[in-house]
Amino acid sequence: MDVSKFFPPQEKVAYFDSAASSLTALPVLKKMDEYYLQYRSNVHRGAHRFTRKSSEEYEGVYKKLAKFFHAKESEFISVRNCTEGINGVALGREWKEGDEVIVTDIEHHSNLLPWLQLKKKGVKVRVLEAEMDGSVDAEKLRVLLSKKTKLFAFSACSNVLGAKVPVEKLAKIAKEEGALILLDAAQYVGHHPLDLGRMPVDFMAFSAHKCFGPTGVGALFHREGAQLEPWFVGGGTVRNVSTEEFSLLENRERFEAGTPAIAEWIGLGAAIELISQIGYGNMEAHEKKLVGKMLSVFLDAENVKLYGPKSAEEKGCALFSFNVKSLAHHEVAVMLDNLGFALRSGHHCAIPLAKKLGVEGTVRASLHVYNTQEQIQGFEEALGKVAKLA
Ligand SMILES: Cc1ncc(COP(=O)(O)O)c(C=O)c1O
Repeated sequence: MDVSKFFPPQEKVAYFDSAASSLTALPVLKKMDEYYLQYRSNVHRGAHRFTRKSSEEYEGVYKKLAKFFHAKESEFISVRNCTEGINGVALGREWKEGDEVIVTDIEHHSNLLPWLQLKKKGVKVRVLEAEMDGSVDAEKLRVLLSKKTKLFAFSACSNVLGAKVPVEKLAKIAKEEGALILLDAAQYVGHHPLDLGRMPVDFMAFSAHKCFGPTGVGALFHREGAQLEPWFVGGGTVRNVSTEEFSLLENRERFEAGTPAIAEWIGLGAAIELISQIGYGNMEAHEKKLVGKMLSVFLDAENVKLYGPKSAEEKGCALFSFNVKSLAHHEVAVMLDNLGFALRSGHHCAIPLAKKLGVEGTVRASLHVYNTQEQIQGFEEALGKVAKLA
């Protein structure tokens, strides 16, 4: 399927940094423009035509999310990003001294720091060691689980190693012990379907900007019945207020204090509609071919060390972290940029993982449905030129 009509052209530079942030799709920009140009107004406030229209569009996104993930409208909360969603669960639940949370040692800081903060409340954070290629051994999880485990928080795909994660299997094992599951789906939603009707997860967070949407908005899914209280309060959340006390609304509005990111939320709706239009099946098939080609580029390259899985079957995401012998990661990224390829370099907000790999950082190529085989051919040449300098 030719998806080029949906995205801004990559004429001079091939965009290989979608794991940091994907390109914003043109239909998303159009939908956001419509809001700003035709019915710009606040939501859920007042009765005039513009606010009625913006409220209708805004509310419509919950319906789209519910259909897209096979969940209920009321189970989604509009948040700024995946990070806020995860923090919201850490801040919005009651914790007791001695409670335990399990995380893996390859998490993005956004799925580690919120749990480490809970140590102040006496919560113990137990660390599940992933394998060096990023795969997670379910047996190691079993050993860590106990009746004290209140939550297992893990990423559906590491943003550094990109190994396939057996999400359902891990979630089921932890649930058998009575733990709740938080899935960090930042690197997942833009690439793979997530059926929350089937998948035994209690909380799931993702950001729109990694799946063709705008920055500044994301969604937190919280399964009906899973205890969660608002971590912010203010306008738009209350049923009644006096100068002494307040009572909150019952539904999800209790979580959305203040004017939300209206245009962005509407843009998120357009982004998931576009994913449905392109189809996850088409996206996965295309990305699988890109993954195969990229792996052969890396495995054939001299002086290049690739981290993470070395076979397409073990890869869960089209992202590749590597270093070039004797060159600093930022140096390599600048050289590749000069040759027309935008790649991220650094620790990718996963310092514990960088330490585990014994590196300060890596260069990361991350692809999406709008990348092509031709771009990878060009990248092979560019990487060869850089690697010669090693
Ligand atoms: C696996 C993972 N989790 C969480 C995040 C945080 O996403 P955001 O910065 O959009 O909140 C990222 C961002 O790169 C990520 O890759």
